[in-house]
Amino acid sequence: MFDACVIRHRRFVPARFCAPMAGYTHSAFRRLVAELGGCGALWTEMLAARQILNENFDTSPWLRRPPHAPPLVYQLMVRAGDPLDRILARLAAHGADALDLNLACDALSVRAQQAGSALFDNLAALRTVLASARRHWPGLLTAKLRLGSRRPDWQPRLAERLRLLEDEGADALVLHPRFFEDKFRRTARFECIAWAASRTRLPVIASGDLHGPEHVHARADSLQAACAVMIGRMAIVRPWLFAGWDRPVTVDLPEIWRTMCRYIREDFPPPVAYRRIQMFTKYFAANFAFGHPFHAAVANAPSLGEVIRRAEDFFSRSPAPVAEPVVAGL
Ligand SMILES: Cc1cc2nc3c(=O)[nH]c(=O)nc-3n(C[C@H](O)[C@H](O)[C@H](O)COP(=O)(O)O)c2cc1C
Repeated sequence: MFDACVIRHRRFVPARFCAPMAGYTHSAFRRLVAELGGCGALWTEMLAARQILNENFDTSPWLRRPPHAPPLVYQLMVRAGDPLDRILARLAAHGADALDLNLACDALSVRAQQAGSALFDNLAALRTVLASARRHWPGLLTAKLRLGSRRPDWQPRLAERLRLLEDEGADALVLHPRFFEDKFRRTARFECIAWAASRTRLPVIASGDLHGPEHVHARADSLQAACAVMIGRMAIVRPWLFAGWDRPVTVDLPEIWRTMCRYIREDFPPPVAYRRIQMFTKYFAANFAFGHPFHAAVANAPSLGEVIRRAEDFFSRSPAPVAEPVVAGL
């Protein structure tokens, strides 16, 4: 199903995917997106590969999939030496649709484990991981990357890694066209999507600063080479974004917040639920003209009960929505 998506959309009718976001694209959020009309595919947040061996697929908010959900791509934080034979066999036994390797995360804790951007940097380790993943995973295999480090030879370095992905049998790649050092500064370098696509036969999925149909349309020239677009932060703000791509949809914002809150409470123990609801609210508040005080009130609430009370207080004042939420800086 996901394979069909990628290949069918080789021309510029991009498929729309929901990006992996650590702390956000958990089972409760995936259930909400599915119920609001779905999307081309959902990515899990980055999962420590070894942890897959210990998690319960029926109850884990990281692994579990809601019924009737769009295809789910499991994104792994992996390093050479991880027992991918056992890890991928377990994913396959639980019917995972697809697998994505994170080569993009530049967080110190991830680099310290030789994963994410450190794996991107280490060509030999990357080859080992890709070969092992391909050997033990017959399904769709993708990798998510940035442009690499900002250095004069970034283009040949990236081209080398694209070749490696091809040679080792990856099926597609996701490119967030920023350097590691950029973090989320500046806008994504859209022109690099076409450049990367010209260096590989693999379908390229574009990620970064694509906030909806208008953004994608406005950047159509740069995105022509992409087979699909992937949306991260704006999908947390507007979980109905994918369903409303081609047609207007009417949403009840307070009701969506309450539903997300309920699903999070069903899937997480109370202390974690409290934090996850605060995190969701940080993005969701961007839907409102005076969303910042709403976010601040929830962020400072001393308990889950108080989070809910403060949110209901905000909603009771019929807050004005904004037509175009902004995620820059979030
Ligand atoms: C809070 C946060 C968490 C993220 N977690 C992940 C992650 O777990 N794995 C990953 O590959 N990318 C992660 N990303 C990057 C997004 O997938 C995406 O590439 C990036 O946000 C750019 O897309 P956007 O402008 O649509 O948000 C994260 C981004 C944010 C803001």
